[in-house]
Amino acid sequence: MARSKSPKPGDDEAAYRALAAEIAEHDRRYHAEDAPTISDAAYDALRRKLEALEAAHPEFVDADSPSRKVGAAPSEKFAKVRHAIPMLSLGNIFADEEVAEFCARIRKFLGMDDSDPLPMTAEPKIDGLSCSLRYEDGALVQAATRGDGSEGEDVTANVRTIGEIPHVLAGRPKGVLDVRGEIYMTKAGFAAVNARQAEAGKPPFANPRNAAAGSLRQLDSAITASRPLQFFAYAWGEAEPRPAQTQSGMIAAFKDYGLTTNPLMVLCDSAAELLAQYRIIEAQRASLPYDIDGVVYKVESLALQERLGFISRTPRWAVAHKFPAERATTVLRKIEIQVGRTGALTPVARLDPVTVGGVVVTNATLHNEDEIARKDIREGDTVRVQRAGDVIPQVIGPILEMRPAESKPYVFPDICPVCGSAALREIDEKTGKADVVRRCTGSLICPAQAIERLKHFASRNAFDIEGLGDKQIEQFYRDGLIMRPADIFTLAQRDARSLKKLKDREGYGPASVTKLFEAIEARRAIPLNRLIFALGIRHVGEGGSKRLARHFGTFEKLRETARAAADGTEARAEIDNIQDIGGVVSECVHDFFAEPHNEAALDDLLREIEPQPMEAIVSTSPVAGKTVVFTGALERMTREEAKAQAERLGAQVAGSVSKTTDIVVAGPGAGSKLKKAAELGIEVLSEDDWLARIKGD
Ligand code: IVH
Repeated sequence: MARSKSPKPGDDEAAYRALAAEIAEHDRRYHAEDAPTISDAAYDALRRKLEALEAAHPEFVDADSPSRKVGAAPSEKFAKVRHAIPMLSLGNIFADEEVAEFCARIRKFLGMDDSDPLPMTAEPKIDGLSCSLRYEDGALVQAATRGDGSEGEDVTANVRTIGEIPHVLAGRPKGVLDVRGEIYMTKAGFAAVNARQAEAGKPPFANPRNAAAGSLRQLDSAITASRPLQFFAYAWGEAEPRPAQTQSGMIAAFKDYGLTTNPLMVLCDSAAELLAQYRIIEAQRASLPYDIDGVVYKVESLALQERLGFISRTPRWAVAHKFPAERATTVLRKIEIQVGRTGALTPVARLDPVTVGGVVVTNATLHNEDEIARKDIREGDTVRVQRAGDVIPQVIGPILEMRPAESKPYVFPDICPVCGSAALREIDEKTGKADVVRRCTGSLICPAQAIERLKHFASRNAFDIEGLGDKQIEQFYRDGLIMRPADIFTLAQRDARSLKKLKDREGYGPASVTKLFEAIEARRAIPLNRLIFALGIRHVGEGGSKRLARHFGTFEKLRETARAAADGTEARAEIDNIQDIGGVVSECVHDFFAEPHNEAALDDLLREIEPQPMEAIVSTSPVAGKTVVFTGALERMTREEAKAQAERLGAQVAGSVSKTTDIVVAGPGAGSKLKKAAELGIEVLSEDDWLARIKGD
C-alpha cells in the first residue's frame, strides 16, 4: 500500500539515530563533564521525542540507545532492588465516623488538645501500582516496583519509556530523591489497549490497574513503551536534602521538578473538612479520566509525621478512606469447604460469573459457619455479592423472594472433607463460648493441612523458594516427592538417583529443574526469623518471629526454652516476657515444640539447613539494642509516642523491670519500678536525660 504523505521508514530511522547520538552527547556533557550545554527543558523535550520514536518503532531500539543506558542488563527476570526506605501501605477506613476517630487517635498519640491546629491533606487514592523513582542529582537512575515493601523489581528500563516521568528533574536538584507515586492507565487508555488485545486475539485485561501492572512488568520495554502509562507523584522515600517541611510543600516541589501531581489535593483544617473533600472527590469519581478507589488523608507537618511514625507496615499519619464496596447479584451454585494450614474449615461460595466493579467474580468468601446460619445462605440461592478494592469478594446475603422451592438449609460438615477426621469448634476456656472456626483435628494426617503448611513454608516471607509455588507443591505432594519441609532439601539428591526425573515432567525441562535446585540450595542458609515464621506456629506471624529470633538468637536456644516451658516455670515466663509476645503465643510455641511429630520433622529439617542470625537492626543510635522501661508520668510526649520512638531507634521497651533491663526512664510519680531499678543497680534517667541520650548529646 502506497502511503505518500508519511516519510519513508528509512527517514525515521536516520532521524532516530541522529537524535540518539545527540542525547548521548548531552548525557556525556552532563554526567562526565558536569557541563551541560542545553537547558533541562530542552533536554527533556529531546528525550520525549526519542521516546515517541521508540514507541512507534521499537525495532530501532538497541543496547546503545540512551533510553537503555541505565538499569540492569536485559535479563530473563527483573533484578531485585532493595528500597532505601521501605514502601509501606495504608490503613483503610470506610465509615464517615472513622475520619474523626483517625484525627482523634493522632491527637491522643501526640498529646494534643482539640483546639491545637492539625492541618491535613486530602487527595484521591489512585487505583494503579506504586513505583519508586530514584533521582540522583536530578537524574533518574533507578525505578522499582513496591514488591514486598522492602524489595521490589528493577523496572528502570520500562519506566524510562513513560512519557510523563522526567529523566531529569527540572532545576537538577542536588542530592538523592526517591519519588514515589502511582503508575496507572486512564480509562480511555485501558479501552484502547483492550481493543488492541482483542485484535491480536489476546485475552483482555480485567481492569485498568491490571493493565497498568501487566504493561509495566514486561521483559521487553518496547511493549511497555507501546502502552499508555501515566504517573502521579504523591510520596517519597529517601529525600536528602528535603525540599520542603510539609506534605503539600513536598508535592509542590515535585510539581516544580516537572513531575505530575494530582490537582485534586487540598489542605484541610478539620475532620469535617476532610469529609467534605471526600464527598467532592466521590462526586467526581465517575467523570475522572482514571480509576480511584478512595481518598487519602495525610498529616501536613512532616515533623509531626516523623513523630507519629508507623505501626508495622502502615503510617499513623495517613489513612485511606475507601469508597463503599460495589455490589452485584448472582447465583450461588455450591458451598465448598477449604481446609487451611491450621485445619480451619473455610466456606467458599462458587458463583455464576458476575462483574462487580469491573472485575469478574466467581468465588466469594462466606466467612464461617455462624455467618452462613445467621444469614441462612443456601446452595442455589440468588445472592448479593460485594467487593471493595483488593479485598476478597463477600456474599452479603440471599434474596429470599428468589429462593428455589426445594432449597434446604446448608449443613456445615463436622468432619474434614479432605481427611475425614472430626472437625471441632474449640471452647474458649475463659468465655465458655465455641470458637467461630471449626478445625480439622487430623493435623498430622490431613493432606490439606500438610500441603498448606508446605506452601506457607516455601512462601515469599518464609523460605521464599523461587519455582516452588503453590501449584508445584500440590503436584510434588500428590506424587509423594515432598511430604515434609526436609524433603524440599533432599529433592535434588533423590532426583539424581531416580529414574523418573523431574526434568522429564510436563512443564519442566533441564533448565527449569536446575534453576529450582539452585533456588533451594540458596535457601539452606536461612535467617532465623524466616525459619521461625516458616514453621507456621499458630499465632506466630512475621512480627512475632522477628521478636523470637531477636530474643533467642539461635534456633537451639528457642527450642530448649520452649521445651523447658512444659512445666510452666521460668522458661514459660521468659517467652511471656518478650515484648509484644503474649500468653497465647507462648502457649502455641510451647505446644508446637511439645508435639513429638514436629520434633522429628524439625530434626530432619535442621540436618538440611543452616539457620543464620537475624538481619541486625541497622541503627547507630546509642540506645539500639537496649531494653528500656518507662515509668511515672512523661511530660514531653505520650507514653505511646515514647515507646514508638524508642523502638524506632532499635531499643526494646519492656513493661517491667528485671535483670535484663538496661535503662529505666522515670518521671514524676514513679514508684515500685524505680525502687526495683535502684535495687538491681540499673541506670535511671529523667525524661530530659533520655531525650538528650537519644539525640546523642
Ligand atoms: S500515600 C506511606 N497516596 O495505595 C504510604 N498512596 O494502600 C504512602 N496509593 O501502596 C502512600 N494513591 O500504591 C498514597 N494518593 C495516594 C495514593 C496511594 C494510591 C496507593 C499506594 C499504596 C497504597 C496503599
